[in-house]
Amino acid sequence: MRRLNAVITGIAAKVPDYILTNKELSTIVDTSDEWIMTRVGIRERRILKDEGQGISVLGTSAVKELLTKTNTVPEEVDAVIFATSTPDHILPSAAAIVAENNGIKNAFCFDMEVACSGFVYGLEICSSLIRTGKYKKIILLAGDKMSSITNYKDRTTCPLFGDAAGAVMIEPTEENTGVMDAELHSDGVGYLPLQVKAGGSKYPATHETVGDAQHTVYQDGRVVFKHAVLRMAEVSLNIMQRNSLSVDDVDWLVPHQANMRIIDAVIDRTGLPREKVMINIERYGNTSAGTIPLCLWEWEPELKKGDNIILVAFGAGFSWGSVFLKWGYNGTANDNR
Ligand code: ACO
Repeated sequence: MRRLNAVITGIAAKVPDYILTNKELSTIVDTSDEWIMTRVGIRERRILKDEGQGISVLGTSAVKELLTKTNTVPEEVDAVIFATSTPDHILPSAAAIVAENNGIKNAFCFDMEVACSGFVYGLEICSSLIRTGKYKKIILLAGDKMSSITNYKDRTTCPLFGDAAGAVMIEPTEENTGVMDAELHSDGVGYLPLQVKAGGSKYPATHETVGDAQHTVYQDGRVVFKHAVLRMAEVSLNIMQRNSLSVDDVDWLVPHQANMRIIDAVIDRTGLPREKVMINIERYGNTSAGTIPLCLWEWEPELKKGDNIILVAFGAGFSWGSVFLKWGYNGTANDNR
């Protein structure tokens, strides 16, 4: 019997309309376009501004577009899995809200929280579910409303983050395409250097936690930088080696867009030419779990069936991982962008 693979059959993404530029940020905190561009390579980011708008707003739009692009009726969807650290509520899941908003009634839905590594972790989970043969259509969503956990009084973190969500349809195939391999890791050494301290069960919200900005991202930037570079390069090289892929065999590298200097260091260490690397951080910033699907969506018109694509991410936990994908189709179909 031939191996059943799990292949991406369509992709959609959504960013908010509001553009927060470095110029505007420099009126909010003591910073400058020059500092932000040199240190992190971000010129602007998208922000979901209006009150009462959670990440499900972006997720709902992305899934709506995905259903159209893949000619899928909502009843056909078996599962909706949303990789996000910023769900609308502690409960219910954002996945259940997005499913309801799109008339998806026959699916099981849940959120998974792996910060910036959410999309690569999610692909491994969805691929495993598809390969059982039991499920035919799974939607993997990944994205965050990072502006909801960003401290706009802290100049060391607020330039970094933006809001976005992406969605892919994953289906079974007997062709040699789809998720070929994945390598995932976690290390609790990342507990203190990168966290949102309060709002969970250990430190529920109080006047003090709100007053001390403990509901927003804290990071020791230098520690995160060092681990991110090391681990992203290491795991990309591992997966290439394990699958006998030389630099020439790789068509695209899609790194998590944390900051430009981390991406540059990963490019140097893997030896991949820059023109094979998807980079859009300048326009969107770090959208956490959203960065990789946002890149794939932007580059979709250029992708060809059989392209060898290496995805690599690093985030809180620490968590990190890489996926080797063989792209499943040429260009875009039914695209409304
Ligand atoms: N504008 C102007 N000056 C600033 C700003 C700013 N926005 N932010 C910090 N500075 C100042 C600091 O106050 C400090 O000044 P001082 O020397 O007078 O004290 C100086 O710049 C250097 O500050 P550092 O924090 O030491 O800056 P560093 O060179 O480490 O750069 C940065 C900070 C860009 C965050 C870096 O540590 C980094 O890239 N870390 C990686 C973390 C990351 O990308 N995290 C994203 C989330 S995790 C993930 O997605 C993997």
